Amino acid sequence: MCGIVGYVGRRNAAPLLLQNLQRLEYRGYDSCGFATVDERLHIKKDVGTIEEVHENLNLLELPGKIGIAHTRWATHGNVSRRNAHPHMDCAGELAVVHNGIVSNYEELKKKLTDSGHVFSSDTDTECIAHLIEESYNGNLEDAVIKALEKVKGTYALMVVSTHEPEKLICARNESPLIIGLGNDEIFVGSDVASFLEHTRKAVTLDDGEYAVVTNRGYGIKKISNGEKVNKKILHIDWSFETAEKEGNPHFMLKEILEQPRVITSALSLYPEHVSGLAEMIMKAKHVYITAAGTSLHASMVAEYWFSRLCSKRVQAVDSSEFSDKGVVDGDTLVLGITQSGETYDTLAAMRRAKLGGAKIAAIVNVIGSTATRLADHVVLQGSGMEVSVCATKTYTSQLTILLRTALELAKIQGRDVEAIEKEFHRCPDLVEKCLELKEDIKKTAHDFFNVPNYIFIGRGINYPSALEAALKLKEITYYHAEGMSGGMLKHGTISLIDKETNTVAMIPESGDNRRKILSNIQEVKARGGIVIGIASGKGLSQCDVSLVAPSCQEVVSPIVLAPIYQLLAYYTAVKLGRNVDRPRALAKSVTVE
Ligand code: G6P
Repeated sequence: MCGIVGYVGRRNAAPLLLQNLQRLEYRGYDSCGFATVDERLHIKKDVGTIEEVHENLNLLELPGKIGIAHTRWATHGNVSRRNAHPHMDCAGELAVVHNGIVSNYEELKKKLTDSGHVFSSDTDTECIAHLIEESYNGNLEDAVIKALEKVKGTYALMVVSTHEPEKLICARNESPLIIGLGNDEIFVGSDVASFLEHTRKAVTLDDGEYAVVTNRGYGIKKISNGEKVNKKILHIDWSFETAEKEGNPHFMLKEILEQPRVITSALSLYPEHVSGLAEMIMKAKHVYITAAGTSLHASMVAEYWFSRLCSKRVQAVDSSEFSDKGVVDGDTLVLGITQSGETYDTLAAMRRAKLGGAKIAAIVNVIGSTATRLADHVVLQGSGMEVSVCATKTYTSQLTILLRTALELAKIQGRDVEAIEKEFHRCPDLVEKCLELKEDIKKTAHDFFNVPNYIFIGRGINYPSALEAALKLKEITYYHAEGMSGGMLKHGTISLIDKETNTVAMIPESGDNRRKILSNIQEVKARGGIVIGIASGKGLSQCDVSLVAPSCQEVVSPIVLAPIYQLLAYYTAVKLGRNVDRPRALAKSVTVE
């Protein structure tokens, strides 16, 4: 999974490719590479972030007014220069960048090697370059189509060649690709944001389509039969936020601190979209919410809201398991939740549900992303661009939209939810107050997050909070952390409690779950474990330390407690000297299966 950009126009390609590729670094950053064409093919690539590679190789030196570039998140082949894209044919006359996976690459590679092609990488992508070389008979477009006929799997790809140096050919199957239309110049990228500084006019490629791009224009056709496809030009009207840290040392901190504002806008944005979603949920007999990572945790919180506030059975399903688990028919609604709108597994679950006749809705942050085009109904999060790989503000905005939807549904059902709505509207202030605990949280990170293992426990609506808190800690500190319900602790995991394993408990202010989590805390204390409490209203003396959020009803506590555990993970990672915004091995948007 990777990010790709292309340029064809009258300006030098390299500076534009460099600028646009940097916008896609959230998709992977283990290595990168550029190919430009004038009379020759020029390639520069290496291991490292785009900035590092540019510092070492001076990418701006590349000549030519046409080019392609790639930032990599390794799937096939280790992180090395030879595996960095672009990949070339044997003659070094054409270059390919690719986002996706060629699933039949072993078979293709064998055939190509048997017929004399020499491979210089361990990637699946290189097959595509050799297949095009093999099929080339004086027409690049025909050669690309012939090659793609043999390729199984997913791709967003771009090809340039010295044979036809004025052309860039790009194609898409289940990986995102969008074309930006400038004045006498055309940009191609994995997302709109990659070229938004240059143009707001765009056309999207859909699955099974390819485009031939020159500085005179573009033509889109179907890969299967060459039929011309006419596309509507989209005018992207959202404002482009330049990715600035605004004085913060990391994007993650900036994004955590933005939450009161982001939650405030999520509380009021797109009212008709939210009520439309509530109606769809009401009408459906079966409702699934499907998502990955942090978005899955938001879906799991929503399960509690729909059951407690609306008595509506809604099932949250890990999107990578949806094809094995989901039962879809015309009475089913599948709600995909995806910040990026590009997570492969979530899109695959939505596609499968659509094929099965289900209605599809989506809650998405990135405008113009694939999920927004796939769904029958979309609610935009409006959280602004999230740069840090670790999702923070987009989580609390997803929660806000989900709680709004549940409350809308409850109102349609004639329930009185006024008191909860009042409490809900206090969330921006409550979150602001949690952020004021920054120094205490930092001290707790320094004093209590010094061992390699953590168990996060929560009950009821804060069971998913425990999962999300564990995910935040492990993804940026590389400490081992697992989240579970307080009830599950005694079924095995409690045997891990020792000096190397601390427990973090989510503690509501009152009610049954406070009593029950206290029992779990006592069980840990009885075995000599350290317990860090994240509480609303009041802490518990049984904990070794309690970080206490302002008093709030349990129903909104997943939103209110989030900044506390996000900051705990953040300060722990900073203390350890981790690359907070770009944790090793991760990418913001996982566009492979
Ligand atoms: C990746 C990111 C996570 C994110 C997940 C789902 O794993 O690293 O932070 O939660 O994808 O992303 P989505 O864009 O679908 O919400």
